[in-house]
Formats: sequence, structure tokens, C-alpha cells
Amino acid sequence: MSISAFIFDLDGVIVDTAKYHYLAWRKLANELGFEFTKEQNELFKGVSRKRCLEILLDIGGITATQDQFDKWMVEKNEDYLEYIEKMDESEILPDVPKVLDFLKERNIPIALGSASKNARPILEKVHLLSYFDAIVDGNDVTKAKPDPEVFLIAARKLKTAPEKCLVFEDAVAGIQAANNAKMLSVGIGHPDILSEAQYNFKDFTEMSIKFLTGLISK
Ligand code: BG6
Ligand code: MG
Repeated sequence: MSISAFIFDLDGVIVDTAKYHYLAWRKLANELGFEFTKEQNELFKGVSRKRCLEILLDIGGITATQDQFDKWMVEKNEDYLEYIEKMDESEILPDVPKVLDFLKERNIPIALGSASKNARPILEKVHLLSYFDAIVDGNDVTKAKPDPEVFLIAARKLKTAPEKCLVFEDAVAGIQAANNAKMLSVGIGHPDILSEAQYNFKDFTEMSIKFLTGLISK
């Protein structure tokens, strides 16, 4: 079956925001009196803000009241927003514009499928918003990846059957969500970590245009 629509995750696929999420979570952890390492931050990829805080508090062995939990969610996001405020085109990951241009020139529908509630402002800051025919983000879903909801909504908005959609993802939960949606999953990152993906590339510089044309014209 040929592919007729493309869905991109945001964080780790289009821009490297994991480092900013990490700095904001580490600041909160330090304020609460414990360390938070880059390795632990790996667990946060593709995971909702709420779930990240639950994991962080588990790491620190901290039990929070609902008020504290809500306050720390806001605090982390305010710090994160300060980091992304300074973002510009230079933070777009290598060859992302090349792939987007290729699809746009052929009028192939493109959607964003992200867990982040900050997806739109980030796309605006890096000037990529206009490429997307549909945006589905953390504000639109009730079920987190690996649930396929985010990608199924994206397919619906693009008026394309799930089996004709391809998903680019850097998170294990995201690859599982794409597979659960019966879409073609393409891992962007380490193949050992993203072993459940149907195809794998270290980054977009490794993925040839020939690979894309092959999928579209099949
Ligand atoms: C995902 C990131 O894209 O969005 C996660 O990979 C992050 O690390 C999640 O926790 C939610 O992001 P935000 O911007 O709504 O806090
Ligand atoms: Mg991601």
C-alpha cells in the first residue's frame, strides 16, 4: 500500500527540545533536593507533562499534595517556556526542511502529532507552522502515546486512511502509537532503542529522497 500522508512528531524529530525539557525538569528536581540525570531524561521522551512529573517525583521519592503537584507542573512549564522563547530556525534538526519541502512540492498532506501543549508556539518560533495542514498536540488528546489517538486524529484531519499514513517518531511510546494506529512507523534516532519501528534512521540526513519516492509511488 502506498503512503499518501505524513505525520511528524515534534520534540526530537523536528527540533531538539529534549535538552530544554531536561533543564527545566532538573531545576525542579534540584529545588526539591535531588539530582535528575540526562539518562533519566530519556524516560521522558514522548511522555505527557503530567506523567513526567509523576515519574520525577517517584525518582525523588516525593509524595505531593494535589496543590503542590499542580504548582510544580506550572513552574516547570514556565521555565521551559523561557528556554523556548529564544528558539529560532537554527534549532531545526538537519534536513527537516528538505523533507518538508519535498512533500510540500508534491502537495502531500502533512500533520503534526505531538504530546506537547507547546507545539504551536514552537513551530511558529522556528517558522515551520505553514508547512502543516493539520496540528494535533497535547491539547487535543485524552490518551497519551502509546495510545494511537493523536495519530488517528491527525489522519482524520488529513482525510487519509491510517494505513496510508507514515509517522516519524523519536520515542518508543510514539513508535508504539504509530504501530497501534496501523501506520507505517519510521524511527528517527537509535535503532536499538526504536527497534519496534518498521524503518530506522539516525536522523533525516540518513534518509534518502529515493526512500520517500519509493513509498509514495508504490
Ligand atoms: C513530548 C516530549 O513531545 O511532549 C516530552 O517528548 C514532553 O518530553 C511532552 O513531556 C509534553 O510537552 P509539554 O510541552 O506539553 O510540556
Ligand atoms: Mg518526540
